Amino acid sequence: MNNDLKDALDRLETARVQGLQAVATTSSTADLENVRVQYTGKKSSVSQVTQVMGRLDPNDRKQLGAVVNAAKSELEAALSRRQTELGRREQEKRFEQERVDVTLPGTPFPVGFRHPLLLSVRKILEILERMGYDVFEGPDVEWEQYNFDMLNTPKHHPARDVQDTFWVGEDMVLRTQTSPAQIRYMESHQPPIRAAMPGFCYRNEAEDASHADRFYQIEGLAVDTDIRLTDLKGTLTEICRLYFGEGRRVRFRPHYFPFTEPSAELDIECSVCHGTGCRSCGGEGWLELGGSGMVHPNVLRAVGYDPERVSGFAFGIGLERYTMMKYGIIDIRLFREDDLRFTAQFN
Ligand code: DAH
Repeated sequence: MNNDLKDALDRLETARVQGLQAVATTSSTADLENVRVQYTGKKSSVSQVTQVMGRLDPNDRKQLGAVVNAAKSELEAALSRRQTELGRREQEKRFEQERVDVTLPGTPFPVGFRHPLLLSVRKILEILERMGYDVFEGPDVEWEQYNFDMLNTPKHHPARDVQDTFWVGEDMVLRTQTSPAQIRYMESHQPPIRAAMPGFCYRNEAEDASHADRFYQIEGLAVDTDIRLTDLKGTLTEICRLYFGEGRRVRFRPHYFPFTEPSAELDIECSVCHGTGCRSCGGEGWLELGGSGMVHPNVLRAVGYDPERVSGFAFGIGLERYTMMKYGIIDIRLFREDDLRFTAQFN
């Protein structure tokens, strides 16, 4: 046998055996592609064997050609089987990794909830609206004139010192109370009046468990031809009954406010000791909810009403106080800390 042919056939056999072995041991379709190039491509050892063709006589050439083709076919068939097999295996693996168990509980996503103060505002406004009150909002930045003067609190009036005011320039303040909204409401409406005026109020004072420099009030105002103190008592008592539920006693305690005469402060009995005095109410038995009184004639005059013809009552609801009394919250600062463990409890 021609030496060139014998040598070519030997090399071909080696390449064929190595190729088949490489196919069998390859473990991924990506590696298999390299094997394909290495053993059956143009520059593969199998193809290179044919370089000797030119030196062979026709019969040998034919023989070598047939063996090369047979080797290539065998390798290609092996590659294709392996390709199918590895492809299926890779797909199964992917399916296994991507499998979704639809019977597992879903990943919970947090649902929002309302802040306890907002819940109280809504509840109390709802009560007032059902009593026929119109809801009206004044501005947070208010004229000194409205916040004080027209509420019968002129400059140098001692009552101004009690409210540590944040000034905004010469004659404007961050309102220290919602009472100036009374003035705005009366200036733009004529009696009979029933108005509820919610909003934040601001005072420049140190914060502690029961004081905040920003707090929420709902102002109430009724002006009509025959409004009496008993109307005020009845209204506030009913608001408390609806807000706190049955069985919490309230009481009216004489007090002083410049814009009301007479004035009274509203107290509610401590939910822990029911009025006898304990640690949680500082031994008082009762806790303050807010101020109230009969609208002072000077206030009525300031908005052009005739105090001989109409009278009215007014009250200021301290929203934080109400909410604290209702739920037994002991520190007003909790409302502002935005700790979800606190705020999420009330819905
Ligand atoms: N404005 C008062 C305050 O913030 C509360 C108040 C007292 C409001 C008596 C009123 C009232 O309408 O009649 O301390």
